[in-house]
Amino acid sequence: MSEWQKTNWRSKPRVQMPDYTDQAALHAVEAQLAKYPPLVFAGEARKLKSALGAASRGEAFLLQGGDCAESFDQFSANAIRDTFKVMLQMAMVLTYGAKVPVVKVGRMAGQFAKPRSAPTETVGDVELPSYRGDIINELDFTPEARIPDPAKMLQAYTQAAATLNLLRAFSTGGYADVHQVHQWTLGFTEGEKATKYREMAGRISDTLDFMKAAGVDSDRAHTLQTVDFYTSHEALLLEYEEALCRLDSTSGKWLAGSGHMIWIGDRTRQPDGAHVEFARGVLNPVGLKCGPTTTAEDLKVLMEKLNPENEEGRLTLIARFGAGKVGEHLPRLIKAVQEEGANVVWSCDPMHGNTIKSATGYKTRPFDAVLREVQEFFAIHRAEGTVPGGVHFEMTGQDVTECTGGVRAVTEEDLSARYHTACDPRLNASQSLELAFLVAEELSALREDRQVRAV
Ligand code: PEP
Ligand code: CO
Repeated sequence: MSEWQKTNWRSKPRVQMPDYTDQAALHAVEAQLAKYPPLVFAGEARKLKSALGAASRGEAFLLQGGDCAESFDQFSANAIRDTFKVMLQMAMVLTYGAKVPVVKVGRMAGQFAKPRSAPTETVGDVELPSYRGDIINELDFTPEARIPDPAKMLQAYTQAAATLNLLRAFSTGGYADVHQVHQWTLGFTEGEKATKYREMAGRISDTLDFMKAAGVDSDRAHTLQTVDFYTSHEALLLEYEEALCRLDSTSGKWLAGSGHMIWIGDRTRQPDGAHVEFARGVLNPVGLKCGPTTTAEDLKVLMEKLNPENEEGRLTLIARFGAGKVGEHLPRLIKAVQEEGANVVWSCDPMHGNTIKSATGYKTRPFDAVLREVQEFFAIHRAEGTVPGGVHFEMTGQDVTECTGGVRAVTEEDLSARYHTACDPRLNASQSLELAFLVAEELSALREDRQVRAV
């Protein structure tokens, strides 16, 4: 393969990207971004890669989550803090189930650009270009709002920098303190499931109390109060990504300076397309969404392109088939991975294959379908003897009503109460935590299975 350059994607077919009308304005923005500091550093991306390598071997577990789309409008310290907090709570629950470290990666500080199912949107008899995320255009349904504006990249960069600044502070500033476990389930209503989750929270809480009494906590309080927290987003807007690429002087390799991990979406994974061409050349960990239309042949080509040296932790395959479809698709892709002897992290995104339109007109995701896809993902890996390495959720720390169901059941009629997402429906704090308990149960069953087999 010819030597990679950060501009090579420009000669490949591109999809899902805006056509900027004002080229001079675009170039000015690109030149400006190219002068700004990178948001993340090569050593951090390498550390994440090594943590993901552990996840590929079953020695760690990936928790990736955050907004479907970050928005300029809803940007606030409280929103960032709440999502960060719920992710730490989920990580604590998962650690308890898996008995391995949890690698925490936010869909944050750069998750602005969105692929869309249609290039235009029609309301009544007005047809306008689709909204593509705050880094590109605006949600308002007016012709002006939908014009792609390159200056929005600068605002996105600034917001990402401020978000990262806060996340770095929370990660080291004691915010990660986890001694409140029993309070997390207070909002859960009664019922068999809620009781089960409360019991698990009680056991986690007991463990922490025991560690404290035994003096482990005071000696090593540091490890429970600081965390590694990484950022990620879909590398969709390649002008932005290219402008933030930086050469790492230690390795001589290129870093995508826009976030620790980047991923390629289900709509932009054409093996000869612009997005794959860009991602193949950067040193960061890369995610690849795999959907029902991903063929084994394409997957093989993509694995070779994106991870030619078969590095552990470099490639995460994010399966998003939809509940009821995992059995049809995951085994054939696992087979393709095995035939190539490829190192990958298998992660489960139970969100994007389960989006429906509710009777009340809202785009939603039934919590039951989300749970079912996760269970199917684990069942197949158990049957195949392969490693379920992580999960990928669209979630928020806010008490929104965007997905239906859960132990504090959100009904279709409730959706209108607090439906704030700029794009896809997210799990709220309670639903996210409930899902973490379920995944913890799956992980703990898997561990018992392995122990039985090992005896
Ligand atoms: C997303 O993760 O927000 C997304 C658009 O996913 P996918 O590419 O899997 O549809
Ligand atoms: Co989404």
